[in-house]
Amino acid sequence: MRVSLASLLLWALASGCRALSKQDHAPDSADCGCLNHGVCISYKYFKIHRCACPRDFSGEHCEIDSSQKCYQDNGHSYRGMVDQDIWGKTCLKWNSAVLASKDYNAYRPDAIQLGLGKHNYCRNPNNQRKPWCYVQVGRMQVMRECKVPQCASEQEEFQCGHKSMTPRFKIVGGNTAPIESQPWFAAIYRRYRGGSTSFVCGGALISACWVVSAAHCFTELKKGESYFLYLGQSKLKSETHGEMQFEIEKLISHENFSQGKTAYHNDIALLKIRSKTGKCAEPSRTVQTICLPPAYDDIPFGSECEIAGFGLEMHNDYLYSEYLKMAVVKPISYKECQQPQYYGSEITSQMVCAAHPQWKSDACQGDSGGPLVCPTDGRMTLVGVVSWGIGCASMNKPGVYARVSHFLPWIQAHTNLPGPI
Ligand code: ARG
Repeated sequence: MRVSLASLLLWALASGCRALSKQDHAPDSADCGCLNHGVCISYKYFKIHRCACPRDFSGEHCEIDSSQKCYQDNGHSYRGMVDQDIWGKTCLKWNSAVLASKDYNAYRPDAIQLGLGKHNYCRNPNNQRKPWCYVQVGRMQVMRECKVPQCASEQEEFQCGHKSMTPRFKIVGGNTAPIESQPWFAAIYRRYRGGSTSFVCGGALISACWVVSAAHCFTELKKGESYFLYLGQSKLKSETHGEMQFEIEKLISHENFSQGKTAYHNDIALLKIRSKTGKCAEPSRTVQTICLPPAYDDIPFGSECEIAGFGLEMHNDYLYSEYLKMAVVKPISYKECQQPQYYGSEITSQMVCAAHPQWKSDACQGDSGGPLVCPTDGRMTLVGVVSWGIGCASMNKPGVYARVSHFLPWIQAHTNLPGPI
């Protein structure tokens, strides 16, 4: 810790003051009227005292707070240092003689509580719209609103597609990923009747109350069982930091979901989430929404997109990954994906294929429902939902994803979300 000589001196004086006040009944801190943890200092031989103010504070009673750059609500509690009206005209000091006959000035008995003193900073002592001050106009002193900005509302909003952290290196073969780099990722679990749980699938948060996942994840629920999910979870089945648990209020699987020979069709589902306190998701470092693409948008074939999940790390593994992983894959054109050595006619226009150019990374069992996201204009957009594939990262067998842009009208119809902007 660093302590400056001056503050040491002030403290010495201040403690002297306290000792003195006991002996001589000199005014103690309360009499000084120091606000904001200011310390009252008495000068024994001059019979005067003043406040020593902490950093950022100044004024006779430490009532001025230079760190307040904006006002909240109507600014009644604003104690910052803006001293101009909206036209840039300098305010009159509240203790100026010309204001003595006005309603609000530094001579009022409640001046300290109202923030009025020997200064000309804007205040709102009488619950006007925003902080104001008196300015001199000709021979008159008139009230004028001030140039103080209003603080941004405290309830933060989702900023879809923005990561709170970008891994420093591009991950190709797949690597563990902090949830901050995939903050829209949802980990969906199944709760059995005895209370035990198992991981089911991934998902993606598209708005405060809605998660998108794959329909084939939700075909097995038995009586007395339920699904629930976590947002903000970097480690499977753990509750350490930043996670939020949600129950599923509504589960909507696509009406035309079906299973073909190898492919799933219309493999998309919507989950309406609700926390134990009845709330939807709130934005944080670990929780963010993913942007939806425009309806029937073109796929950014060839661009570097990302997949994330807790799925198997190798095709013949049997345990899910303990930590969230992500990998970079590139969407592949239909023509290529419909080649006979790929998937032939199994591929429809409702699907997108994506793979690593050298077949080195892919989604795998357990990654289903998770997001395939691609960068657009500095944000990430949900292009696909992990659906199926033959093997994992095997040659000529790309991962296949439900094509989100083709399900946009369906998503909008069920969630009442506004269309993408
Ligand atoms: N159907 C699998 C699941 O339920 C996802 C398979 C994805 N496979 C792939 N090679 N991309 O988890």
